[in-house]
Amino acid sequence: MSHCQVFPSHDDATVTNPAARALLRWYDLHARALPWRVAPAARQAGERPDPYRVWLSEIMLQQTTVATVRGYFEKFTTRWPDVGALAAAPRDDVLAAWAGLGYYARARNLHACAQVVMAEHGGVFPQTEAALRTLPGVGLYTAAAIASIAFDEAATVVDGNVERVMARLHAVEDPLPGAKKRLYDLAATLTPHARPGDYAQAVMDLGATICTPRKPACDACPLLGSCDGHATGIAATLPRKAPKKKKQTRHGICYLARRADGAVLMTRRPDKGLLGGMAELPGTDWAETPPPSAPPLETDWRAMGDVRHTFTHFHLVLSVMRADVPLDAKAKRGNWIAAGRIEDEALPTLMQKALACGFGPERLI
Ligand code: ADE
Repeated sequence: MSHCQVFPSHDDATVTNPAARALLRWYDLHARALPWRVAPAARQAGERPDPYRVWLSEIMLQQTTVATVRGYFEKFTTRWPDVGALAAAPRDDVLAAWAGLGYYARARNLHACAQVVMAEHGGVFPQTEAALRTLPGVGLYTAAAIASIAFDEAATVVDGNVERVMARLHAVEDPLPGAKKRLYDLAATLTPHARPGDYAQAVMDLGATICTPRKPACDACPLLGSCDGHATGIAATLPRKAPKKKKQTRHGICYLARRADGAVLMTRRPDKGLLGGMAELPGTDWAETPPPSAPPLETDWRAMGDVRHTFTHFHLVLSVMRADVPLDAKAKRGNWIAAGRIEDEALPTLMQKALACGFGPERLI
């Protein structure tokens, strides 16, 4: 009987596809050193990634760059070194620590997911793509990334980097998002059964460092010889994208009321929806033409300027009004947050901009 393998092979000689093999060889030499990553040599020596760190990094990396994520990852893992610690943290602390990373539903799901892993999985992450998919905030991409990187399942990992690499490698000219299924199938065909975790990270690293959206460094690419996009001279123009719908611009007003003791009036957004559960300055609804609405207290407001912010589906121009009010000022809504406590709040980037605008150079937080 032939030799029976219990563990996945880490021998890339068993990777028969030449492109996948070339990519793994390249990764062995050029893998980025990332705080959540087990480097290829250590992986081959038997070290395994911590699923908690892999999961956390993958959630953080959605829509965010590696450069931004590094600091947040360090902060989270120092404060909450394992999934149990994160599950036990008050949700507001997690939201506050996430502030600035954007897409706050991810932070709410992160916390919910940690609690599900503790309550329903005995504190141990499920190990397959299918089981990981059942967790809050873990979609197709994230489940595949965790299954492959943490557990060496040959799952198909496709993010924007991988779509670009596949579109170029196979000169796919159909535009995204229509081409998604085709690119996914091409990625599945290339995914090897040996070293799938390293392979997934290799394609993503290639997309981030060589096969970049603009000016790809084709001369340094391990896939140069098999790249149809390069052979036909169209690599840099791929992937094609269907024209985007123009984003609407919404307008709103927010009110910075500063009490004589330095406290600032703040409210909290509803749990569900955009910036759910985050702190904000009280203000109007945001709309193309916002309906008139009363400020949170009657006083003389001064216009401090506008801040601009772009969300997934619209641009926002938020006018910032300010008033300095006496200690006994009565507000119709909101809570007074002491000056030194404002940065403990879960303040989205938009509100950090609004506070900076409202405080101007004398900014105290
Ligand atoms: N982008 C998102 N996740 C990544 C990973 N695990 N390695 C490289 N780039 C990534």
